[in-house]
Amino acid sequence: MSQFKSQLTGVPRTMLLTLRGRADEQKQPNFLFQDERAVEWSQSLPWDDQLEALYNPFSQIAWALRAYQFDQVAIRHIASHNNPLIVELGAGLSTRYYRVKHEKLNWIELDLPEVTNFRRQLDSETDQHQFISSSVIDFGWMDALASKPPASILFIAEGLLMYFEAHQVQEIINQMRRRFPGATLIMDVVGKISKATGSKYAQLGAPFLWFPKDEQEVAALGLSLVNVWSLFQLYPERWPLLLRSLSWLPFIRNSCLILETKIQPIEN
Ligand SMILES: C[S@@+](CC[C@H](N)C(=O)[O-])C[C@H]1O[C@@H](n2cnc3c(N)ncnc32)[C@H](O)[C@@H]1O
Repeated sequence: MSQFKSQLTGVPRTMLLTLRGRADEQKQPNFLFQDERAVEWSQSLPWDDQLEALYNPFSQIAWALRAYQFDQVAIRHIASHNNPLIVELGAGLSTRYYRVKHEKLNWIELDLPEVTNFRRQLDSETDQHQFISSSVIDFGWMDALASKPPASILFIAEGLLMYFEAHQVQEIINQMRRRFPGATLIMDVVGKISKATGSKYAQLGAPFLWFPKDEQEVAALGLSLVNVWSLFQLYPERWPLLLRSLSWLPFIRNSCLILETKIQPIEN
């Protein structure tokens, strides 16, 4: 990694996994998308051997399918708004902007400073595509969006919220409810069964901390549900038959949910 000036630790390090998952997608016989940018970036970054324990064919499918499902929501949001703004929270090295690029689009990639600095070594900021260095829980970043009609904003929290305590997630949602009522928020959440996987992440300094029981527990934070998908029920041809067949069991269904939500106003 000699040419890269930042050594990643903790949660930021995990973005290399999801980047590789997307880069490897086009090697699959029934791939969902091609992502040249992810391939290019992935090849230019040396692999972190300690991540190897978390990278396998199953996790590749999960990260690629999740990315693709989030893409579909982004594409729909862009098509249905005149001046859409997409804000990726904990963007890591997301390459979604290039996958769904559209002339009328504005896009913000928000992540911790060490990650944004890392991105700047690979990617170029433009008026349309901006990078914000901030923790999602230092809420000053919201000021940069103050002039935007909330309904035009799609917030994406992909592979992010499981790294926060429940009270921190509630505080993020509370702030969004104050500032952006009516905006769309798409997120993925993991259930308790993921605690086993989470322990491997904990060894890397990136423990999972939030395990909502189901989508109703998430909605109770102040969100209304627009769409709910269990990752294991999407694109069934990609999953092993056993997992597919058992995906109706609540503890499997809820172990990885993708939720498209609307941010509810705070009632006075
Ligand atoms: C698993 S990666 C996901 C990256 C990207 N969303 C994707 O799906 O490829 C988790 C990301 O969350 C970011 N993150 C962790 N804590 C954060 C915080 N407090 N504020 C903003 N981003 C954070 C990490 O830096 C990392 O980029």
